[in-house]
Amino acid sequence: MDHLIEDIDILARQEKDTEACETVKVSENTHSGKERKLYIESYGCQMNFSDSEIVSSIMSKNGFDTTSNFEEADVVFLNTCSIREKAEQTVRNRLAQFNTVKKKKPSMMIGVLGCMAERLKSKLLEEEKIVDLVVGPDAYRDLPALVKQVDDGQKAVNTFLSREETYADISPVRLNSNGVTAFISIMRGCDNMCSFCVVPFTRGRERSRDPHSIVNEAQDLFHKGYREVTLLGQNVDSYKWSPEQNNKARLEKSSVSQVINFAQLLEKVAQVHPDLRVRFSTSHPKDITDDVLHTIKRYENICNYIHLPAQSGSSRVLQLMNRTYTREWYLNRVDAIHAIIGEDCGISSDMISGFCSETEEEHRETLSLMDYVKYDFSYMFFYSERPGTLAEKKYEDDIPLEVKKRRLNEVITKQQGHSLERNKRDIGKVHKVLIEGFSKRSDEHLQGRNSANKVVIFPAKDYAKGQYVMVEVEDCSAATLFGKIVD
Ligand code: SAH
Ligand code: SF4
Ligand code: F3S
Repeated sequence: MDHLIEDIDILARQEKDTEACETVKVSENTHSGKERKLYIESYGCQMNFSDSEIVSSIMSKNGFDTTSNFEEADVVFLNTCSIREKAEQTVRNRLAQFNTVKKKKPSMMIGVLGCMAERLKSKLLEEEKIVDLVVGPDAYRDLPALVKQVDDGQKAVNTFLSREETYADISPVRLNSNGVTAFISIMRGCDNMCSFCVVPFTRGRERSRDPHSIVNEAQDLFHKGYREVTLLGQNVDSYKWSPEQNNKARLEKSSVSQVINFAQLLEKVAQVHPDLRVRFSTSHPKDITDDVLHTIKRYENICNYIHLPAQSGSSRVLQLMNRTYTREWYLNRVDAIHAIIGEDCGISSDMISGFCSETEEEHRETLSLMDYVKYDFSYMFFYSERPGTLAEKKYEDDIPLEVKKRRLNEVITKQQGHSLERNKRDIGKVHKVLIEGFSKRSDEHLQGRNSANKVVIFPAKDYAKGQYVMVEVEDCSAATLFGKIVD
């Protein structure tokens, strides 16, 4: 029964991610005696959550503690996402709610950060009269000056996109942390021009962060008791650090003097400590190399899990999407994962249903691609046209909403079947699990993940978060594995 409730919760969240698009994260209370209080609410992808930790760090050095209650905040920040229309609508509704509070408390400063700030720029100040401050993803170092400007009675905007900013020297204040797993941004921006996607416009050009600062951050986390890091980038496989880039950014001289690619970076982070698990996201099918797969295979602590978004199973649609790979190329990458790492390597995807001019036959090609790969998990969306993107300029958004939704439902149903099938394969096997904390529903059960990123729940015994345990899986649902610790 316990299993069932937990499971419904996870499925509901899965649905929420797909339908309502975005999960929200809210700052927690810190009490270090600072003068003012900051409330920060974050939407969108892990990059955005990671950016909120940088923002909190900058604000904390400038006299702000964080709070989880926006009504007691002096400054309220919404770190926003523009990926789909619904994501922006959620933020607009939230701004309206803040407005009600601001009417009673006019001193409360409201700022919009992140991708929506970048996309709409000063239009946000004009449209949403309650916004005091608009700051894009590359301008967070300017926050103290911008806050001061608002304190002095003006509105403030900085949406300058940088070719160099990586916030490499800023040590993030971990928000909503379980003390076990953390994100590390390894690059920013995106140079791919997928025709449906707003990210290249909101996040600017791709740039990689100094490997030395990445390894330092991983070491620091390990010493603080963290046992898993996830390296983040829109396309981690195109990570490339070169000394020239360092000079161009006019940063302090880096101690790394040779060119470093993603496989080499992965290896450096894996070498921090054998008990520090390493994950990464997102891999781009056009760029993921066998070299990366061999590196994963070589290190036990690099998790056997790859998020490899396909978007569609039809080569024609992929071409319209400007993904620059075909169905065959994608399937070849999946075969390489199976051949080099093994059949148990977790693979997940992102899928878009109802992209411009997608036919029923092409939709069925997506379903058949899913049948071939049998993903462990997928994030599934229907196409949402975004202003300014290539698709908006070149193609008609011609698939009726009901058709998009029906196709999406077929994709979701297929995925649920595959998730269950993949999880059933794990029954009877023993998995190494990193404990992340108590299960959501019971203090008598712990929860963690196996290497393939699957949630595993088991009776607690005397174990605690941060420890590795061997768990024999006895049962499963489409979203979760259930088992018991074996010695
Ligand atoms: N960099 C990652 C994805 C970033 S956005 C990658 O290349 O895979 C996360 C996901 O949102 C995308 O993979 C895509 O599936 C979805 N997405 C992006 N733009 C969208 C749009 N206009 N409509 C619907 N889904 C979209
Ligand atoms: Fe968007 Fe494509 Fe870049 Fe991903 S790789 S962020 S989908 S443009
Ligand atoms: Fe959204 Fe920006 Fe991330 S558009 S998905 S918050 S990069």
